[in-house]
Amino acid sequence: MIELSNVTKRYPGAAAPVVDGIDMKVGAGEICVLLGPSGCGKTTTLKMINRLVQHTSGKILLEGRDTDGIDVVELRRSIGYVIQQIGLFPNMTVEENICVVPRLLGWDKAKARRRAAELLEIVALDPAVYLTRYPKDLSGGQAQRVGVARALATDPPLMLMDEPFGAIDPINREMIQDEFLRIQQKVRKTIIFVSHDIDEAVKMADRVAIFRAGKLEQFDSPDNILARPATPFVAGFVGTDRALKRLRLVRAKDAISDAECVARAGDSSAEVRTIVARGGSGRVVFVDAANRPQGYLTAAQLHEIDGTLSLAHAHPVPGVARLDDDLRSVVSAMFAIDSSWLPTVDADGRYVGVVSQKSIIELLRLPHTGVA
Ligand SMILES: Nc1ncnc2c1ncn2[C@@H]1O[C@H](COP(=O)(O)OP(=O)(O)O)[C@@H](O)[C@H]1O
Ligand SMILES: [Mg+2]
Repeated sequence: MIELSNVTKRYPGAAAPVVDGIDMKVGAGEICVLLGPSGCGKTTTLKMINRLVQHTSGKILLEGRDTDGIDVVELRRSIGYVIQQIGLFPNMTVEENICVVPRLLGWDKAKARRRAAELLEIVALDPAVYLTRYPKDLSGGQAQRVGVARALATDPPLMLMDEPFGAIDPINREMIQDEFLRIQQKVRKTIIFVSHDIDEAVKMADRVAIFRAGKLEQFDSPDNILARPATPFVAGFVGTDRALKRLRLVRAKDAISDAECVARAGDSSAEVRTIVARGGSGRVVFVDAANRPQGYLTAAQLHEIDGTLSLAHAHPVPGVARLDDDLRSVVSAMFAIDSSWLPTVDADGRYVGVVSQKSIIELLRLPHTGVA
């Protein structure tokens, strides 16, 4: 979709380039986050893509075409742009803000208004209420959504966004990020956006580009950035809690063990003791006829029981996790109830295995990279 090849920006008179030999490829429908400290060249890189800044050397290809050969008006029409701090025009209504580019393209007023109303629906703002509002009468989150609607106005396949969530407080930011991902499910744009927040990048990105002083330190999936930082700088930037950050990228279904460790009413205690011995966790989950977890039994308990098992023998289950829960929420739940494991169920509530402290640690065991 978009490819940067050895792209450099050098300002006259400056000792060093501000962007230096960047190589990067982003596929259609992907979200790529440009991440790094202030002044490292993120905004410059973004602006070179729609030629608000002209690169000094290298090539930028959009759908295989060199952007230098594309008429700049045509180029910008195919690229939505959300500038830093949203940048709504204060003297224009929401409708007028959204319609700036369509009107420049000569759309008639009725067509532009229909498009504005449709876009407000997409970003979950009622057109009847918001078309006529002015930016000063919007909350930060609403202004953000209008900024996104404006960038989507001409349905460009590529969107560039400069710190789109930067000005929003942390609680609303989480909500708006979730909403943005929901919108992206519908519109499936290719998105390149700038952030300086590693948590935001991990949450939103398919690919993360980590910049340092104009150079690309690592261009990789969020999980690889966290699990295998390529340089000490990246390791420092993602933080010493990178193992914890990875938890949100992994789901319970990836950390399941003990699928066979189940017991049912009427099973013989001796048989179940064999199952426990094979499992290694020292317990079995007691399930009902529909395979729903009802309780659990420990190896020590089983040694005290002769004959057949019934639910009366079992301890209550500490809680359950669901297959699609991310491990961050599973671990939070485990801490909250002071348990080192949770039985995990599918969408119908049927037992599929156990998530345990041990299985999580095994899953997150960081590959040895030589970087602390
Ligand atoms: N027009 C310009 N002339 C000279 N230097 C510039 C100009 N615009 C930006 N810079 C410099 O380029 C570097 C990268 O800036 P920028 O891309 O805005 O960083 P970021 O978005 O990562 O914070 C900074 O050191 C900035 O001072
Ligand atoms: Mg910037």
